[in-house]
Amino acid sequence: MAQRPKSGRSAFVCLSCGARLPKWSGQCPECGSWNCVDEVPDRPAPRQPGAGYAGAAGASGVVALPEVSPEERARAPTGIGELDRVLGGGLVQGSVVLIGGDPGIGKSTLLLQACASLGARQPVLYVTGEESPRQVSLRARRLGLNSQGVRLLAETAVERILAAAADERPEVLVIDSVQTLYTELLQSAPGSVSQVRETAAQLVRWAKQTDTAIFLVGHVTKEGALAGPRVLEHMVDTVLYFEGETGGPFRLVRSVKNRFGAVNELGVFAMTDHGLREVKNPSAIFLSRHERPVSGSLVMVTREGTRPLLVEVQALVDASPLANPRRVAVGLEQNRLAMLLAVLHRHGGVAMFDQDVFVNVVGGVRVSETAADLPVLLAVLSSYRDRPVEGDLAVFGEVGLAGEIRPVPNGAERLREAAKHGMRRALVPAKNLPKGGIEGLEILTVHSLREAIDAL
Ligand code: TYD
Ligand code: MG
Repeated sequence: MAQRPKSGRSAFVCLSCGARLPKWSGQCPECGSWNCVDEVPDRPAPRQPGAGYAGAAGASGVVALPEVSPEERARAPTGIGELDRVLGGGLVQGSVVLIGGDPGIGKSTLLLQACASLGARQPVLYVTGEESPRQVSLRARRLGLNSQGVRLLAETAVERILAAAADERPEVLVIDSVQTLYTELLQSAPGSVSQVRETAAQLVRWAKQTDTAIFLVGHVTKEGALAGPRVLEHMVDTVLYFEGETGGPFRLVRSVKNRFGAVNELGVFAMTDHGLREVKNPSAIFLSRHERPVSGSLVMVTREGTRPLLVEVQALVDASPLANPRRVAVGLEQNRLAMLLAVLHRHGGVAMFDQDVFVNVVGGVRVSETAADLPVLLAVLSSYRDRPVEGDLAVFGEVGLAGEIRPVPNGAERLREAAKHGMRRALVPAKNLPKGGIEGLEILTVHSLREAIDAL
């Protein structure tokens, strides 16, 4: 952060105690906290009555709730089905969407493709702060896009971007990326927390006042959250993150916040020579079809957002030379694994004190659902005993601390997805047994961990 409070256009405040300081400092002289002094614009906040969010009325801005017209905001399909899915069914007018992810994962590619298709129906302005217009145009040509309706601007000063937007009146504005922007109100360097926050605040205000939909691109920084998209999450309507491995061809986009749709919705893409292609049937890519059953591998049915997904979970249990054996979970929560192993010992009678336990969810998906409990435990057990599980068995279910197997939401839907992908048998919580069963699927139900282990 630059430390030049000279011009009088910015000031420094302590985020911890609110003290105003004449200059930047590592420690607040008032309250003594470290690393909490931040630069802010030195101007009175605009507080005209009724300004800001659309629909506010009266001098005081207070209205009766029933009098507010609950008009449905128009949604524009982006032309990319998987992107529409994570957006909750299309791009909402006047909404601000933050797209985060590692550098090089495909944010610009995805947005350029979306712009080309949105541009056919409404004016689109693509602001590039990282690449030159030539580079963007080259990429569009390489992707074979018809980018007729897309206007391009290479600019990083937010005031000039908004001036251009006022001239152009785009209905969709793309900012690539928010880390390159700066406002003249602040002295600190582009990419600093204060610049990122202030420029984004100006853009959000613009979106709400003019009903422009805005995509903000944000890089996730190595250090984690600082100055990255995280500081913006609360300001925007929708937050999408690219997750998973950068190495492979697949890219997962997850909605972690959405004021206009379901969260945790997962969009699946494949990176090809011609940009990102939708993967219409994602279950297929998360299953590795083994020639013959292998121990420690199991198919589970998880539900990401509103879609059930078949995913392979793999476990490796190995005698540990360490006093503190390792518990490593990739794609799952580490603490949950430790808890499950304790339940396995206490209620299943299988001790893993002297074993390293590694669990991996194939394909780089992150599973946050409790429905993964039972499959994870059974995969661990399968590896420990070196007994393969048949590849046509699908498993889901939550494991309670008392060793009971609890039902999970949307059981029938998960079972149908399993049957659709050629699973012949399913091991599920007793309460998830649908009336009438599922055609082509033999369903085994269990009440407790003991029963599940016996069934295996
Ligand atoms: P990009 O969208 O520039 O990433 P970001 O904006 O998130 O930093 O994606 C760049 C990567 O995608 C780069 O490694 C090359 C690859 N790529 C393809 O494989 N095929 C393509 O058609 C394009 C445009 C990029
Ligand atoms: Mg980019």
